[in-house]
Amino acid sequence: MPKDAEEHRKDAAYKQAKREGYRARSAFKLQDIQNRYNIFKRAYYILDLGSAPGSWLQIAKKYAELNLTRYFDKYYHRDHYKIMGVDTKKLSPLEGIKIIKMDFTTPEFLIEVSKYFEEEKLDLILSDASINKSGNKFSDQARQTKLCFNILELTKFLKFKGNFVIKIFQGVDFENFYTKMKRSFMVVKSLKPKSSNKKSNEIYLIGLKKK
Ligand SMILES: C[S@@+](CC[C@H](N)C(=O)[O-])C[C@H]1O[C@@H](n2cnc3c(N)ncnc32)[C@H](O)[C@@H]1O
Repeated sequence: MPKDAEEHRKDAAYKQAKREGYRARSAFKLQDIQNRYNIFKRAYYILDLGSAPGSWLQIAKKYAELNLTRYFDKYYHRDHYKIMGVDTKKLSPLEGIKIIKMDFTTPEFLIEVSKYFEEEKLDLILSDASINKSGNKFSDQARQTKLCFNILELTKFLKFKGNFVIKIFQGVDFENFYTKMKRSFMVVKSLKPKSSNKKSNEIYLIGLKKK
């Protein structure tokens, strides 16, 4: 059976990810977001929620390392970075990155974050976390939005003017979530990355400059 355009696009992105050493095609979604909004500018303390298999962590590490030399000036910079990734699924290790296997909606996770970052505020929080889809678009969307509201609580760890990226599904409750995000960030943008499945209702919200 001939492949449709979407399958061809996925295949090409999969091959490109393999070629460039990324663990998943999702790397290109985060790269698109970075190209558009420069979310990694001066980002050294980074938390990635729902990290498996780890391609967003690979991108985060690339920029955090770059920032160590790029911004060695009189403005905000650090001489080291700290990146933490969390998932309920097991992740293969990535050098220099703290990986924990747990549900990030639990109180234990808050303790892990405070411990690893030693109570310091974060520059950037990323979330590509998704619920396990049931196939029922309506309930999947509602469950994803509920997860997103939980994730939004974690932005209390962000510093003033820190950045945030989150994946959400468009549908009912989307507007409520968007409105709530606008209360916490000076600028909120939405982006459907070029590499996203055109048929899916997933979209990324980018919160710039935490209030
Ligand atoms: C699309 S994948 C992430 C892909 C990743 N950004 C990458 O580039 O490799 C979404 C992940 O979110 C995780 N996830 C969803 N809810 C979670 C939760 N409450 N706690 C931890 N992980 C969660 C899932 O286990 C899944 O691995």
